Amino acid sequence: MTVTGFTLPSSRLPPPAEAEPLRWAILGPGRIAAEFAGSLRAHTRQHLAAVGSRRTDRAREFAERFGGPGTRAHGSYDAALTDDSVDVVYIAVPHVGHAELALRALEAGKHVLVEKPFAISEVESRAVVDTARRTGLFAAEAMWPRYLPAYDVLRQILADGLLGEIRSVVADLGEFFEPDPADRLFDPALGGGALLDLGVYLAAFSSFFGGAAVDLLARGRRAMTGVDATFSTLSTSRDGVQSNLFCTIEAPTPTRAWVGGTKATLTVEPPFYATPRITVTDVRGACSRSMTFEQTDAATGLAWEAAHVAQCIAEGRRESPFLPLEETVGIARTLDLIEQQLEASRQGR
Ligand SMILES: NC(=O)c1ccc[n+]([C@@H]2O[C@H](COP(=O)([O-])OP(=O)(O)OC[C@H]3O[C@@H](n4cnc5c(N)ncnc54)[C@H](OP(=O)(O)O)[C@@H]3O)[C@@H](O)[C@H]2O)c1
Repeated sequence: MTVTGFTLPSSRLPPPAEAEPLRWAILGPGRIAAEFAGSLRAHTRQHLAAVGSRRTDRAREFAERFGGPGTRAHGSYDAALTDDSVDVVYIAVPHVGHAELALRALEAGKHVLVEKPFAISEVESRAVVDTARRTGLFAAEAMWPRYLPAYDVLRQILADGLLGEIRSVVADLGEFFEPDPADRLFDPALGGGALLDLGVYLAAFSSFFGGAAVDLLARGRRAMTGVDATFSTLSTSRDGVQSNLFCTIEAPTPTRAWVGGTKATLTVEPPFYATPRITVTDVRGACSRSMTFEQTDAATGLAWEAAHVAQCIAEGRRESPFLPLEETVGIARTLDLIEQQLEASRQGR
């Protein structure tokens, strides 16, 4: 069966500036926090109410750079979490701190947006999800591709059945990071390695098209500190979708993604997580349609996730329809499976 003469749908997302303003606290004023705060200020009406750092001087510097006159600078995360002027907390500390701070934020009565990976294991992810449900507060993983216009188009392409039944997903994600034991990326104590930093994007992409992996084979190589440096996975999802993923922190890769369906194929051009262009081609090559997008970097892209969170909370939602909490837990389960396989192959099992 072929699809001929089709058209691609348009994004239905409202511009980020339309979302009702919420009062945000940012915890962990590092690299991504700066991108997030800059994007908030440039593209939304969201308000940076507070900054939480382990050091007051860093909180103050960040608040002066990205906030307004009323932005409060706290020298501890707990002080920011108990600040009455805060509605929602964006957690941007290293991975190993995500779950603990998310739990504390929820217990303090704050909604949470947690940087990827949501937590470092399925067990931790489940604990945060359970707490969000018990407290009745909003929680989401800051998997920013999901909230971009390109992914809203992809959601509709899937819902409209344009690709037919999905059969395969192929994607790669690699960047070169200078090997440095002092960098969190190479530090086992901070959850370093390719898997939790970059692999999570691949697992989320594969999950978007095929659901969580149920049968998975992974092989890889460790860096000098013992964190995983490069790995490949071959997996089958519950829906029978075959995924082939490659991830590394040792070299830049094309960061391209491809999805095969029974009616059409989809090419997601680099970087696939913030793609500038997608192309859908009929399996017989009879028809091909492309669409381009502007939001291809964090500076323009992160505003969309913040606006989506604000919109969800304004609508009384407790999770995002674009990345439901059960899917976040499923992605964490896939990451656990990969880690188990990498460890088993290292030990020769
Ligand atoms: N969405 C994206 O595109 C994206 C991109 C990069 C990173 N991330 C995620 O964001 C998180 C942070 O990454 P990043 O690159 O922004 O890290 P980073 O630059 O090292 O910043 C992390 C911040 O967390 C705080 N922190 C708390 N405990 C720490 C510890 N033990 N060691 C170091 N810093 C600690 C520090 O702020 P204070 O000491 O001042 O509190 C630090 O500035 C990671 O989980 C990563 O996966 C997401």
